[in-house]
Amino acid sequence: MDPQTATLLPVEGASADAARVDDADTPLLGTQAPLFHSRRDFCVTACQALSLAAVAATIQACGGGGGNPNESGGNPLPLLSSLNATVVNGAATLTVAGTALASTNGAAMVSTPNFGQVLVVRTDAASVSVMTATCTHQQCTITGFENGVFQCPCHGSRFNTTGGVVRGPATASLRRFNATITGDTLSITA
Ligand code: FES
Repeated sequence: MDPQTATLLPVEGASADAARVDDADTPLLGTQAPLFHSRRDFCVTACQALSLAAVAATIQACGGGGGNPNESGGNPLPLLSSLNATVVNGAATLTVAGTALASTNGAAMVSTPNFGQVLVVRTDAASVSVMTATCTHQQCTITGFENGVFQCPCHGSRFNTTGGVVRGPATASLRRFNATITGDTLSITA
């Protein structure tokens, strides 16, 4: 037979099942390919989408990715030095000679028996500013400081030397304490 005029004929004995499989996998010309070939394909794709949505929601719940100093692009500030105070006549008391608080603009984390951990910054020769070290966002302990700015390690909130928010996600100022410095003696009261 001339190959150019040959006619394709059904193959004797070919199974109907085989024909149906071919029909399912190969879309007809002029028709659109199905989005999912099977229920399993649909489930796999749907689960992947849900997983991505859950990760995004978790990041958002943690205060947003951009505010975390430990994430790419973040900028953690140097850690504060730690000092301990004792209680004298109801005031948390500390000798600052030889510490970071001996000079203006120096700052430290001070552990007190009566007010917990507080942030102290020496604002000039005769005065200090004292505020709680507990972040107002989700109560992490603030540990970073540089150039008059305190930073929380959890989500990157920053506070100035009077406890005001200079960068969120925190929105509330830090609680402040009354404090005096006389000679080398720092006294902190409620
Ligand atoms: S606890 Fe979130 S920024 Fe401090």
